[in-house]
Amino acid sequence: MSEINSSIFAPAMLAGRTAFITGGGTGIGLGIAQMFSRLGARVAVASRKQDVVMAAAKSLQSAGGEALGIVTDVRNYDAVDAAMKQTADRWGGIDILINNAAGNFACPTEELSPNGWKTVVDIDLNGTFNCCRAGFSYLSASPHVGRIVNIITAYAWGGWPGCAPAAAAKAGIQSLTRTLALEWGPKNILSNTVAPGPIADTVGTRKIHEETDRAEAELDRVPVARFGRVDEIAAAVTYLVSPAALYVNGTDLVVDGGRQFKATSSRSRKS
Ligand code: HXC
Ligand code: NAP
Repeated sequence: MSEINSSIFAPAMLAGRTAFITGGGTGIGLGIAQMFSRLGARVAVASRKQDVVMAAAKSLQSAGGEALGIVTDVRNYDAVDAAMKQTADRWGGIDILINNAAGNFACPTEELSPNGWKTVVDIDLNGTFNCCRAGFSYLSASPHVGRIVNIITAYAWGGWPGCAPAAAAKAGIQSLTRTLALEWGPKNILSNTVAPGPIADTVGTRKIHEETDRAEAELDRVPVARFGRVDEIAAAVTYLVSPAALYVNGTDLVVDGGRQFKATSSRSRKS
């Protein structure tokens, strides 16, 4: 449920824009899709499961938005290319690309299989490259200045025990984003990342913190003493694709309640 209401951003702020959101049918991606849609954007949500993308598109349409659900696997370049073409054919272009799709699981590195490593890196890092590459020509032609926002996490630079492939892949995405900011800045595309902290009611938090019985320990390490909300991440992404962010390129917007700076639990402090 969004607590950030539409008056925070100007109504119709994203009118006339088309957004392509990977993993836009669930969790944080769906929250981004909903916020963009409320602000007037046409939204394509793309992921592997037909029921997921179709339900998301239907719910956006029921709320009055223009939406498209597309089945694609970001690991497959040709499939991504076709999905982008389908979106651009429908609405005349693509202005915004959100690389949000990801896979992750907790596994000690000494027990991880090579295919387990490869699977996560393929979805997160290679998938992000595939979408950026396939989206380039559309984004570069955007009259609103093309935007890429890649969803990463501060664990990428802080270290992430039990999630080595995701940490490495997200660090790779951060590096790719900076390179694209340099290469594609002159070509009418701004590239940035958003790094969420632990977000409540998401598959990510469930798999990585709750199912491993680490939710309380993680909460102890968040200075503002709560998990974040999906709409707080959506709002950060919305700022980066807005007209207010036309001079923001190659940066990381960390939205984690200060989690990245707090290595120790409050409980371990003597007070
Ligand atoms: C060890 C595992 C594993 C586990 C899968 N593998 N799960 N290894 N522990 N829990 C291994 C498998 O054994 C296999 O290797 C390889 O990974 C591929 O597994 P598949 O199931 O065939 O892969 P696939 O069907 O492509 O599924 C990808 C997936 C899955 C990542 C494994 O979980 C998925 O689809 N996830 C999408 C949703 C998701 O994870 N969302 C969370 C994003 S959260 P072998 O060697 O056996 O062949 C996030 C940040 C969270 O990114 C931040 C938290 C705060
Ligand atoms: P989620 O609901 O599981 O979202 C992941 C999405 O990616 C799903 O919609 C999934 O849809 C899609 N996906 C997975 N593999 C795909 C593939 N190969 N091709 C296309 N789509 C694929 O997880 P979430 O927690 O909202 O996470 C969203 C993003 O936020 C991720 O990038 C994650 O790393 C980041 N993040 C999350 C948290 C958190 O606390 N949740 C913290 C930091 C960063 P299908 O199954 O239909 O393919």
